[in-house]
Amino acid sequence: MKYNFNEKVDRKDNHSAKWEEMKYKFIDNDLWPMWIADMDLKTAPSIIEEMKLKVEQGIFGYVYRPDSYYQSAANWSEERFNYKINPQTLICSPGVVPTLSILVRLMTDIGDKILIQSPVYYPFSSVVTENERILIDSPLKKDINGYYHIDFIDMESKLAANNIKLFIFCSPHNPVGRVWTREELEKTCELCLKYNVKIISDEIWRDLVLPGNVHIPLASLSKNSEKNTITCFSPTKTFNIAGLQSSFVTFPVKKEWENFDKELSLLDIKRNNPFSLVAFEAAYTKCTDWLEELLIHLDGNIEYVSNFLKEKLPEVKLVKPEATYLLWLDFSSLNFSKEELSKLMQIEGKIALDDGFWFGENGSGYERMNIATPRYMVEEGMKRIEKAVKTTRNLSSIKEF
Ligand SMILES: Cc1ncc(COP(=O)(O)O)c(C=O)c1O
Repeated sequence: MKYNFNEKVDRKDNHSAKWEEMKYKFIDNDLWPMWIADMDLKTAPSIIEEMKLKVEQGIFGYVYRPDSYYQSAANWSEERFNYKINPQTLICSPGVVPTLSILVRLMTDIGDKILIQSPVYYPFSSVVTENERILIDSPLKKDINGYYHIDFIDMESKLAANNIKLFIFCSPHNPVGRVWTREELEKTCELCLKYNVKIISDEIWRDLVLPGNVHIPLASLSKNSEKNTITCFSPTKTFNIAGLQSSFVTFPVKKEWENFDKELSLLDIKRNNPFSLVAFEAAYTKCTDWLEELLIHLDGNIEYVSNFLKEKLPEVKLVKPEATYLLWLDFSSLNFSKEELSKLMQIEGKIALDDGFWFGENGSGYERMNIATPRYMVEEGMKRIEKAVKTTRNLSSIKEF
């Protein structure tokens, strides 16, 4: 391996939300941080190099984006997903979540209905409800092995009954780690076209697809699906540069492109900062080998957790994710309430994990663990989870906890 993903990290002076903001979500800051989706791994050297060059220029005024910036994103899409996008359909926005919120406001009215599929990344519901739109949930369904599927029967009945305006789709899916198959994507598209529902496809995780899986951009299926889909993507998760706060959106329909562009102008958030500008282009042009090795490292960490659970904690179940670096751990056999499970992890395990119920009530019984770290952090995390779960083995009732 050319890159060392097991290097010890020190984020003490890194102003890291993951390490310093636990106190706002958990009992205190003294927990082992395996929550929030950023990596305890240094980004690719070529990205750091470009940013250093920018620092050395010493001038950090407003920046413009050269054509090569858009072209790098378009080329990446073609090379990695065999999907050619016209750079002129792209717009840059400060992030995927801001994009979702702006789109909800632009494309729907107060009181309109918007579809999501829980359990799902929690801002999907807050951008709907906080913007005074109505959330319609078509929950994913699990088979007996704990593997998640889209419930097309439920989805169609919700679409038929509710006059839904927009569907916010997560592909690949956070937190359940699914990479949707062509068949699932086609069915999704077909239903949305039938009921005249526009799709926002959040594909921020599309590059972090684990060995043996293939991501298919929803918009790439056909001309009709392309026209009906607004796709959000970014190299931020892929290369651990989320703090640079930028992202891309594709608008194949010109009028929608113009509306979004106008909105960004009104808010005066049309520019990159000097660092995201050089970092993103470097990511998309110089860092493929780093990403390939990262995926091997992540896969190794997943394998480690999976073996650990089988050997030492058979009561905790894991379906290996097909994408993302997030493990959706099933603790439901412990029969704890969501609050008890959360407390168990924090108090007994001294570990910070995203509680499953943050992603929807049907996430209760689960904890989401971020394994995008050096191996020693995963080992420590598993020791802590083991300690917490072991305390429950001697309990005759939950009340003793
Ligand atoms: C599905 C999904 N969308 C968007 C984001 C955040 O995107 P941004 O930082 O660009 O707002 C995340 C972060 O974890 C995510 O999981």
